[in-house]
Amino acid sequence: MVSVKDIDKSRLPKHVAIIMDGNGRWARERGMPRAYGHQNGAKAVRATIEIAVELGIEYLTLYAFSTENWNRPKLEIESLMSLLVSTIDSESKSLIENNIRIKIIGDTSTLPQSVQKKLNKVLEQTQHLTGLTLIVALSYSSKWEITEATKIIAQQCLEGKVKATEINQELLNQHLTTAGIPDPELLIRTSGEFRISNFLLWQIAYSELYFTKTLWPDFNKASFIEAIIDFQQRERRFGKTSEQL
Ligand code: FPP
Repeated sequence: MVSVKDIDKSRLPKHVAIIMDGNGRWARERGMPRAYGHQNGAKAVRATIEIAVELGIEYLTLYAFSTENWNRPKLEIESLMSLLVSTIDSESKSLIENNIRIKIIGDTSTLPQSVQKKLNKVLEQTQHLTGLTLIVALSYSSKWEITEATKIIAQQCLEGKVKATEINQELLNQHLTTAGIPDPELLIRTSGEFRISNFLLWQIAYSELYFTKTLWPDFNKASFIEAIIDFQQRERRFGKTSEQL
């Protein structure tokens, strides 16, 4: 069994992003409704945050609800939203005690008012904190985000504030929801699916991808440590040759 001791603390990824997948299958295997899978998924979220804090990871991004997830049955959406509200209620004290700063990425205007209210409160309570930055992607999709950034830049061009020739990667970065956050070095996806599902497409250009068969509710501290160890065994070349590194 792996432990924190197996990790080289001097070569930790600054930013880890996770596509939490498999809650539905985990529940089905137990003959339970999908909501039961999500409830247990929330427990895995807690364990993941705990180990990220313990290791000193600076940024952790969790894909909690995609733009496409709005197409799920109404009942499931409602149960996910109420889980979100109850999790914020039960966890906000512990987030603050652990110096965790919350950031939300996504089109939050589409979320129910009750969820928006809770989110605004926890954002206000934690924005000054200096430990782990926990980024929760809610009603998020990468194509939405890049489209929104493009609209802003196009408007700036129309107003003469920016010339088309001045558009560069840095400018685009500044208008993404992740502005100011370093790109993830490691992207984890659970449940044995090999997809990115419209998540951080721009930001993962050079990320290491890690896929595990573990269903999200079974993901625990050891699973996270295994992913970090795997990451540390990779040679990150960024287009160069091994000899140039
Ligand atoms: C994917 O499993 C999971 C989701 C779409 C929701 C993720 C939400 C949580 C883990 C709950 C709480 C989150 C926070 C931040 C408190 P799936 O339903 O797609 O599973 P399946 O592919 O097996 O059907």
